[in-house]
Amino acid sequence: MPGADLDAIVADIAGTLARAEDWGEVASYIPELAKVDPAQFGIAIATADGRMLVGGDADTGFSIQSISKVFALTLALGKVGDQLWDRVGREPSGNAFNSIVQLEQERGIPRNPFINAGAIVVSDVNLGSYQPRVAIGEILRFIRYLAGDDSIAINGEVAASETATGFRNIALANYMRAFGNVHHAADLVLGLYVHQCAIEMSCRQLALAGRYLMLNGRHPDGGRVVPPGRARRINALMLTCGQYDASGDFAFRVGIPSKSGVGGGILGIVPGRASIAVWSPGLSPSGNSHLGTQALEMLAQRTGWSVF
Ligand code: DON
Repeated sequence: MPGADLDAIVADIAGTLARAEDWGEVASYIPELAKVDPAQFGIAIATADGRMLVGGDADTGFSIQSISKVFALTLALGKVGDQLWDRVGREPSGNAFNSIVQLEQERGIPRNPFINAGAIVVSDVNLGSYQPRVAIGEILRFIRYLAGDDSIAINGEVAASETATGFRNIALANYMRAFGNVHHAADLVLGLYVHQCAIEMSCRQLALAGRYLMLNGRHPDGGRVVPPGRARRINALMLTCGQYDASGDFAFRVGIPSKSGVGGGILGIVPGRASIAVWSPGLSPSGNSHLGTQALEMLAQRTGWSVF
């Protein structure tokens, strides 16, 4: 029903998914995330004409996890521009988000900035000559500015939980350091990475934070966050790499540039139209929100918002 009233579509999606039978499995490799009740679903849509539509648990905070990689990439491109692409690729990996296998053959250059290895290089760039706590403050301030909400904060328990158990990321950081593609010690880079992943936001806050990517790089207050071409390219990377090894299927089913996180959130950008956040903590085997993906598929079908 393209053209149907957006309020009604959002209410219908939230109502339908609240009655879901299969919520997926919450991430358990970060112990703190395993405690989250899977039977939750939220959706928020910030439109280019300034409306906000919400449904379900749209104001419940969740761990944004890998969605933070979009904001971290934006900051890193602001610091080093296209030089970033000497250290990180722009191709889908075809592997799990935390995979190490390609790094040996590809000499420590991760396939893209959204798999963990790529995001760790991005963190290495963002760390620069700062102490981790200063770099963490920078990304938190950036996200608060984008969302227009100073209450957004880091969940210290989630960060501590991942710090205590994130052995794969420690391995990835050290492996890339051996190739000279990570410059700082693993604990410093991961100190930044883990805290940015532990930022907590609601669907409403996340949809607000994504607006610059639907508005050609402009903050709704008129300020320029990134040049239009950069916003377009970040959206392109979200489309091709944002759901890891499920990116192709996601483009097929949904067709909206999106970035997922293991906290169950997904940020979707419809250029010129909408910034969408959905959240449901249960994941599919690829590590993407099970009902969140379904919600975006329903939304794309009913609005015609696929970019294709
Ligand atoms: O590094 C990790 O494994 C997590 N902090 C983030 C991974 C993640 O969100 C993958 N997304 N679906």
